[in-house]
Amino acid sequence: MKAAVPLYQDLASRLAGLIRAGTFAAGDRLPSVRQASREHQVSITTVMEAYRSLEDQGIIQARPRSGYYVPPPSLDVSKLPMAARHSKKPIIIAQASIFQSVMDLAENGRVVPFAAAAPDDSIIPSAKLASITNAVLRKSRSDALRYTPPMGRRELRLALSRRLLVAGIKAGPDEIITTQGATEALLLALRATTKRGDLVAVETPTYFGILHLIRDLGLRAIEVPVCTRDGMILGALETALKKHRIAACVVQPNFQNPIGSVMDAAAKKRLAKLSEDHGFAIIEDDVYGELSHDGGRPPSIALYGGNVIHCGSISKTLAPGLRVGWMVPGGWLDEVKRLKTIQCPWNATLSELVVASFLDAGGYDRHLRRIRELYSLQCARTRQAVVRFFPPECRVNQPAGGFVLWLEMPADFDSEAFTVSAVAEGISLVPGTLFSPSGGLKNCFRLSCGFAFGPRTLDAIATLGRLVVRNG
Ligand SMILES: Cc1ncc(COP(=O)(O)O)c(C=O)c1O
Repeated sequence: MKAAVPLYQDLASRLAGLIRAGTFAAGDRLPSVRQASREHQVSITTVMEAYRSLEDQGIIQARPRSGYYVPPPSLDVSKLPMAARHSKKPIIIAQASIFQSVMDLAENGRVVPFAAAAPDDSIIPSAKLASITNAVLRKSRSDALRYTPPMGRRELRLALSRRLLVAGIKAGPDEIITTQGATEALLLALRATTKRGDLVAVETPTYFGILHLIRDLGLRAIEVPVCTRDGMILGALETALKKHRIAACVVQPNFQNPIGSVMDAAAKKRLAKLSEDHGFAIIEDDVYGELSHDGGRPPSIALYGGNVIHCGSISKTLAPGLRVGWMVPGGWLDEVKRLKTIQCPWNATLSELVVASFLDAGGYDRHLRRIRELYSLQCARTRQAVVRFFPPECRVNQPAGGFVLWLEMPADFDSEAFTVSAVAEGISLVPGTLFSPSGGLKNCFRLSCGFAFGPRTLDAIATLGRLVVRNG
């Protein structure tokens, strides 16, 4: 049975619809509380709660002794961040000095955590996970606490083999290796496909963890810019391939962190073909693939052929602390098996059995539907607040999935100095320099929307808006 929506929420979403449709335009005054109560035949309290909820979302503004208004947009929402300027030369990635302090803050519960791309308590199904854990321990006893085989527990590999079909990947359980999160899968994929000094094509901007692995393995990077809507700009990759031998290309085709882009079927096909023609490995990082806001699951590049190693995890969908990830190494299966057996032959057995059981019989699809809606709402509210409080020259992405916002400021903006000012106000975020192999993107920063939006978040965005103006 569908849960009844509270009256005020129902009224708030009807009013938001009227504002979206233009019935109330920027600058218009909404009906007074009394008038709205008569028109919609609800109590005055219900109207006030609805107006307050719309105000919290930044959809309307209260003006003292005057009423509620539709605010003029302060920022042109059609202006998305632009593809980054990129270096065309191979790069030895440097460690950004601000990185450690940004990471240390991720542990600090007192800051408003825009830095951590992690699900919060409302997303993690902790009660369900607790009951599955109890059931697994009751049923399997000490078997749930033994070493896993190096490829991981078969129960999980079987569950993943069924699940991956939805992404267009046909892999039997013996073609899948489970790992400690996607991080270990990415590390194994890079180790299997490259040797020290090799060149790896990497998106700019991209998730900084990928850049750290490339640097620590003694590899060099070649930057390929990402378009906010369509993902990796393949023309730039083709130009690089004419000049350089590239051993591997790390790409996030679906809901890229931090841009939120998705490569369409034609682009995935083209990249798959490039990998075959030029003999490089595609290391596909797909940790956000199941988190589209509209429910559709974009496929893996592997659906279109190519030399693909697919990597994923449940860190963004179930719980990052379980440390369950996987990879489908394709043509590198034997080498990855060998490396895994040396590097870290065993995973967390209990975590693997719990995740296997959740995927098989725990209502995973229902859970995904719920969290996609939450992530989508959290992104929309945070973005609306940015639109309300940030200056018009700011550009912000509109992700169709995942839960991070990427903001681009004018060229002379210093996001590292801005991060320091934000931290002093109790707000964490990640400066753009950490997402760039060449240390560029100083004028950009990322805000994660993994946690529930509330008055504290709204205040924090208002504070950031003030700081942006001061730092600009
Ligand atoms: C794009 C991307 N890949 C990989 C990871 C790491 O995932 P895991 O926690 O499963 O190791 C993250 C985490 O933020 C990420 O954003």
